[in-house]
Amino acid sequence: LGERLAAGPLAGCRVTITAGPTREPIDPVRVLSNRSSGRMGFAVAEAARAAGARVTLITGPVALPTPAGVERVDVETAAEMHAAVLARLASTDLFIGVAAVADYRPAEVMVHKLKKGAETLELRLTRTPDILAEVSAHRPRPFCVGFAAETESVVEHARAKLVAKQLDLIAANRVGDGLGLEVEDNALDVLWDGGQCRLERGPKTELARHLIQLIAKRYALARG
Ligand code: CTP
Ligand code: CA
Repeated sequence: LGERLAAGPLAGCRVTITAGPTREPIDPVRVLSNRSSGRMGFAVAEAARAAGARVTLITGPVALPTPAGVERVDVETAAEMHAAVLARLASTDLFIGVAAVADYRPAEVMVHKLKKGAETLELRLTRTPDILAEVSAHRPRPFCVGFAAETESVVEHARAKLVAKQLDLIAANRVGDGLGLEVEDNALDVLWDGGQCRLERGPKTELARHLIQLIAKRYALARG
C-alpha cells in the first residue's frame, strides 16, 4: 500500500489540514460556534491521502469518521487549534486551512452557569489568532492554501485574502442560503497569483479531488 501511495502527485509531502468549526466557551454549558460541518476539510484530507501525502487533520467538533490512513487531532477552541498547528509546523510541507475558525471568543469565560435576568445581555468578545496568516508569515514557510467563506463579492474578497495573508492559493466558496456550510454540494473558485479556475458545483468529495490536483500542480511548480 505504501508503495502505491508513494506514486501519487503528493508522494512524500507532509500535509496539515484544519477542518470543522471551533467552539468557544461562554460559561460551563454554553458555546459560541458556527455551522461548519467539517465535510469539506475531511474530503480534502481524504483526497490528499489518496494523492500520496502524509496527512494530519486537525479538527474542531464534527460528527464525521476519520478518513483511512489520516492522523486525526481533535480540538475544541481556536486557541487549541492554533497550538496544534504550531506544534506541527516544523514537519509541515503543505498547510491547508479549511476550518471555519471563530474570529472572536468571549473575552472572559464565566466560572459558573450564567443566570438569566435582564431583558438584554451584552457579551464582550476578543479576537482569536489568525492561524493561516501566522503559518504563512512563519519562516521557513510551508506552501499555504486558504479557504474563503463569503456571502457576496466572492472572488474579490477571496483575492484580497490571498494577497493579505500572502497565500499560494485560495479556494473561495459562496456560503449562506443553503450553500456551502451544511450541505453536501459546493462550488469553488480557486485563485492564485496570476491565475484562476472554477470548480463547478458537485459533491464535496469530487471537488476536493480536483482541488488537490490543482494544489499538487502549484506545489510542484513552487518547489521546482
Ligand atoms: N483562518 C484561520 N484562523 C482564523 C480565521 C481564519 O486560520 N482565526 C483561516 C480559515 O481557515 C480560512 C481563511 O483563514 O482558510 C479565511 O477564513 P475566512 O473566515 O474566510 O476569512 P477571515 O480572514 O477570517 O476574514 P473574514 O471572516 O472577516 O471574512
Ligand atoms: Ca473569519
